[in-house]
Amino acid sequence: MMGKFNHKIEYQFQTPPSVCRYMVSLLPNGIRSVLEPTPGLGNLVSALWQYDVTDPVDYFLLDKNRRFDAVVMNPPFSHRTADLENAPKGYGTGLKVGYRILVECMHKSDTVIALMPWFTIGDSDVRLRYLKNFGLISVTALPRKTFQYARIQTVILHLQKGYKGETTFKVFDLLPSVRSMQEASQIELF
Ligand SMILES: C[S@@+](CC[C@H](N)C(=O)[O-])C[C@H]1O[C@@H](n2cnc3c(N)ncnc32)[C@H](O)[C@@H]1O
Repeated sequence: MMGKFNHKIEYQFQTPPSVCRYMVSLLPNGIRSVLEPTPGLGNLVSALWQYDVTDPVDYFLLDKNRRFDAVVMNPPFSHRTADLENAPKGYGTGLKVGYRILVECMHKSDTVIALMPWFTIGDSDVRLRYLKNFGLISVTALPRKTFQYARIQTVILHLQKGYKGETTFKVFDLLPSVRSMQEASQIELF
């Protein structure tokens, strides 16, 4: 897929296929319509081939009141990689942009699988409480090498509105489908 932001694409962060597959695997049964709000080159869209996917060229031109069975997303984290041409005035700067897109998507669906920077939960009790109150099933830590162009610490947030149970912490490298435990144990720690 080629969107209108291709001139910037090489500087941005497309989700690796193995991570896309993992994110899609978190979707519960019974989901049909899925929003991928900021599709970029379409890696997540490809992994969502079994679903009825909406992948807007410009997220900000999407009908604000439209609801979906689920949202699967890796938004631009900051205003530097977001196209804000059609965003509401004063939408935000810096790393608030990605978080604002996440919060908006939490109003579009009860099921949200979001790849976000660690700081989303790491540097704000208010944000963490907000996510927890919505329903935070799990947090999966991704390796720092996930993205080709930058070492950035990211997590996958598995959100389900109304979920009141414990939040599970997972490590992507150690998930059986990603790397065998034997292989993982051979990694040098020091
Ligand atoms: C972190 S990348 C992830 C791309 C894709 N979601 C994925 O998971 O591979 C964020 C993407 O958001 C796209 N983007 C930025 N502003 C956008 C907008 N207003 N509407 C739709 N996409 C946008 C960029 O082109 C970029 O590819």
